[in-house]
Amino acid sequence: MSPPALPGDGRRDGDGPVDRLDEIASGFQAAKVLFAAAELRLFDLLREPGASAEEIARATGGSPRGLRILLDALVALELVSKRGESYRNRPEHESELLEGSPGHFVAMLRHRNRMFRSWARLEEIVMGGAPPVREILDERQANEDFIRAMYAVSHRRAGPLVDRLELRGVRAVADLGGGPGVYLEEIARRHPEIELYLADLPMTLEVARERLSRSAAGRRVRLLPWDLYGSPPPPELPPLDLALLSQVVHGEPPEANRGLFARLFDRIAPGGRLVVVERLVDKGRASPRDAALFAVNMLAMTPGGRTYTEREILDWGREAGFVAEPGEQVDEGASLVRLRRPRDSR
Ligand SMILES: C[S@@+](CC[C@H](N)C(=O)[O-])C[C@H]1O[C@@H](n2cnc3c(N)ncnc32)[C@H](O)[C@@H]1O
Repeated sequence: MSPPALPGDGRRDGDGPVDRLDEIASGFQAAKVLFAAAELRLFDLLREPGASAEEIARATGGSPRGLRILLDALVALELVSKRGESYRNRPEHESELLEGSPGHFVAMLRHRNRMFRSWARLEEIVMGGAPPVREILDERQANEDFIRAMYAVSHRRAGPLVDRLELRGVRAVADLGGGPGVYLEEIARRHPEIELYLADLPMTLEVARERLSRSAAGRRVRLLPWDLYGSPPPPELPPLDLALLSQVVHGEPPEANRGLFARLFDRIAPGGRLVVVERLVDKGRASPRDAALFAVNMLAMTPGGRTYTEREILDWGREAGFVAEPGEQVDEGASLVRLRRPRDSR
């Protein structure tokens, strides 16, 4: 017999309308327990041989009562095991939850905790309250967690995404708002002949530089500071055979993206492509579910972002002079929207 459903663990006792409502309403609890543990860096303290709540309280300066309750909830969520008074990470998840683990999942948890704090103001924002401040672009620790969180998502996508790019004959590629630079690093591994440019805000580039400097492929990527939405393209950027714009346009309103596409047109070589990678929403804007919820994330986290349909993105491109080419889905969170600058355009 399975144990009864725990509030927030996503399981339900029944299938009635109240159970469904309660499942939605309690979903934050398990998530917040995980965020708090990551924020307090508890998993590093729960390595072999483990520790008691009192020992962790002494090491962190936290409250023994608070820690015991939080640790017991982590046990209930099957992330931590408990023997007597001693708590220890369960081995299945430990490597993902330690600081500095290669997948950067802990940074993702801290980033989600910031999302959680922004989402707490949702009704106020919906009612026209002060727009969110973009701490993930302006504040150093928030930016570092954000960019490492992007790595946690995009490093698993790099292979399948790069498989879908047409790179034969391509000389220069830029990833605009390229964050951790994983796609360029993957291209560098496969195509030593291509020139690669990562354009992003200066703070993000520092996080990218530290990461890319660790691999020979990464060291081939040139870093260019560029505020895509606030200034013209830097003169060092050559005519591009391919510009990637991945998970960037959802952070800005349509007018800003229309302006960006118009500025980009001249930077793409005739015959070259602009490939936008986005979590697309359907025409009715209420599906897929994750895209509708992601629009809420942009409402909570940015002054003007949202999710877009493929048609909207293609229209900004057509208005700038590009022609549309068939798009394709990479995975549930990413589709390619392809635009080409005609060969005979000037
Ligand atoms: C959601 S992340 C996507 C990162 C990466 N392209 C990916 O797909 O994993 C958005 C990126 O856009 C960058 N960005 C946001 N506003 C920008 C701006 N005005 N100029 C340049 N980069 C910007 C952020 O620094 C961040 O790297």
